[in-house]
Amino acid sequence: MPRRTAGGAPPDTPPARLSLISRHLAPDYPINTPYTVERLPSTIDTSLLPKTQTRKMSSQPPHPTLLIPGPIEFDDAVLQSMSHYSESHVGPAFVATFGETLSMLRKLFQTSDPASQPFILSGSGTLGWDLVASNLVEAGEDVLVLGSGYFSDGFADCLRVYGANVTELKAAPGQKPQLPEIEKALSEKRYKAITVTHVDTSTGVLSELKNLSALVHKVSPDTLILVDGVCSVACEEIDFDGWKLDGVVTASQKAIGCPAGLSISMFSGRAMQAFQNRKTPPASYFASMKNWTHIMQNYEAKKPSYFATPSPQLIHALHTALTQILASPLSERFALHRAASDRIKQAVADLGLKQVAGNPDEQAHGMTAIYLPESVKQADILPSLAKKNVVFAGGIHKEIATKYIRFGHMGVSVLDPRRGDIDRAVKALQDGLAECGYQKA
Ligand SMILES: Cc1ncc(COP(=O)(O)O)c(C=O)c1O
Repeated sequence: MPRRTAGGAPPDTPPARLSLISRHLAPDYPINTPYTVERLPSTIDTSLLPKTQTRKMSSQPPHPTLLIPGPIEFDDAVLQSMSHYSESHVGPAFVATFGETLSMLRKLFQTSDPASQPFILSGSGTLGWDLVASNLVEAGEDVLVLGSGYFSDGFADCLRVYGANVTELKAAPGQKPQLPEIEKALSEKRYKAITVTHVDTSTGVLSELKNLSALVHKVSPDTLILVDGVCSVACEEIDFDGWKLDGVVTASQKAIGCPAGLSISMFSGRAMQAFQNRKTPPASYFASMKNWTHIMQNYEAKKPSYFATPSPQLIHALHTALTQILASPLSERFALHRAASDRIKQAVADLGLKQVAGNPDEQAHGMTAIYLPESVKQADILPSLAKKNVVFAGGIHKEIATKYIRFGHMGVSVLDPRRGDIDRAVKALQDGLAECGYQKA
């Protein structure tokens, strides 16, 4: 007689439950993606799958579609890689996974230079700023920060905390500093580093990196070029070697499509040399490259190593996310983000609305910051969208915060049209604005 639960339903049989829990271990078990149904081999006992899986695009419980500029919606396989059994962070299996993940990062950042050094640390995107500020710059050294919004202000604050002498070239909301003024600033002072926020998530302003880097190399060749790529890596092109960048810091939860909790970065041989040449020790402990560089190198060489405990579950999720990303040419991924972005921006224009990033050449492809009509308040439109199961974010640029909303369009929401996320969100925006009394003039 099967045991009955309080509700009267018989519990799953132990083998069935075990099989579900350990499905990531069975090589012939289908990866649970939106394509699961098509991929189901005939040998699979479908009665073991969660009931929703055979009926729906995703096995995740029904939930509002998260279309903020990070965290983003997860692919099922990425999410399920986190339900990995516990394992030693210095055991051979996990060390191999970590090592492969680091090597895949080289491909994501498009660097084949063996001197480039990837880091994956437990923490969020902000930790990347600390990594830069505490290792690559010494107290009293000059840094030029290109100010394009809330996040470049944060990068500047972080640099100051560690004693850098920061000069900010600030643009008006929705704009970015232009090359002639950057050239002027670079020729007036010798800067140890210049920082640029590739996509400032507060405004959706995209900074161009290739010509910027060429300018810095021409005018101030010793200056390190350090990029905040938190809202750009994996949705905007970044050619680390080709553009001669010295550092790109990012996080797991945006276009990479992994749960939040990992600071991910790549530094050039030149940046690592600048770290080696420091006259003073790094002013941080957890974020010290002194403590982490050999750990990362050991992991990549598949040798166990320890400085502080990583999160094996998050590393598994990142491994799955990067495997998926690298399964197609990166150029295709960027083109798909660009196409979705163009469609969304056209829909915004058709509604008679303006974007915060006014110049089409300076608009991000993974998010859109949309000015609200005068008559519509954030406090009305965001709940109206939520009722339609679509979650957008409010504004955060301090000068205009209440006047706009942000629509994130990265990762699976863009790459898997069968989810219908983008079309649903556009329709929700149209209907929501109409419900708030807005009519195009
Ligand atoms: C461009 C940019 N930089 C840095 C950060 C900080 O990252 P986190 O919130 O993961 O610490 C964010 C967060 O949204 C961001 O968008």
